[in-house]
Amino acid sequence: MNQQEIIQKTADYIKGEFADDSSGHDWWHIYRVWKNAITTCEREKADSFIVQLAALLHDLDDWKFNASGDETPLRAKAWLDSLSIDPSTTDAVCRIIMHISYKGAGVQNKMDSLEGFIVQDADRLDAIGAIGIARAFAYGGYKNRPLYDPASPPQMHQTFEQYKNSKSATINHFYEKLLLLKDMMNTSTAKRIAEQRHEIMLQFLDQFMNEWEGKDV
Ligand code: ADP
Ligand code: NI
Repeated sequence: MNQQEIIQKTADYIKGEFADDSSGHDWWHIYRVWKNAITTCEREKADSFIVQLAALLHDLDDWKFNASGDETPLRAKAWLDSLSIDPSTTDAVCRIIMHISYKGAGVQNKMDSLEGFIVQDADRLDAIGAIGIARAFAYGGYKNRPLYDPASPPQMHQTFEQYKNSKSATINHFYEKLLLLKDMMNTSTAKRIAEQRHEIMLQFLDQFMNEWEGKDV
């Protein structure tokens, strides 16, 4: 199989795996991350094969959806091994998957490759802006979380354990993660796009709080 065929086969596999998700991690999230990563990859001159495989496989072993609660990329590695991908490419893709997730406001980002920076930025761009707002509430519903609880203020988590165990209202997630992403982007392409998407979230939160208190009535 050539690289293009491997990418297509991986996309078809992931499409099947994520088809029924309603937590904001459906196939179309993967699709947007994949397409955005390709565009940034062309600008940043990174290895497109690694970027595309990592983008397509990045949520397969997500800690939020497996019993172990960590991101050891067991399923991604098994998939790549089944396609006889060379070990150095498999290793690069698995390292990206292990480090891609946000793990708390005070937890250091361990991503260490240009390809990883690009995929992480594409994943984070899909967490903000209009789509980011929609995904946050989809996830909150999936986890039975309240929309907003004025009695529970946001927390700046200093460890992954704290972040992982948090069960707070969806509005808190904006302060605990989504509004912080703009300043955490790695590539200049993503930094530029994030500015505009960040503004949309600020406007949304402002209007949400106005409506909550009936200030516009
Ligand atoms: P990451 O691996 O960085 O968490 P994902 O692709 O898995 O990135 O998607 C994260 C998205 O899941 C968030 O942007 C948000 O939409 C949703 N999400 C995760 N945790 C929460 C939460 N506590 N409250 C609301 N949404 C959440
Ligand atoms: Ni993702």
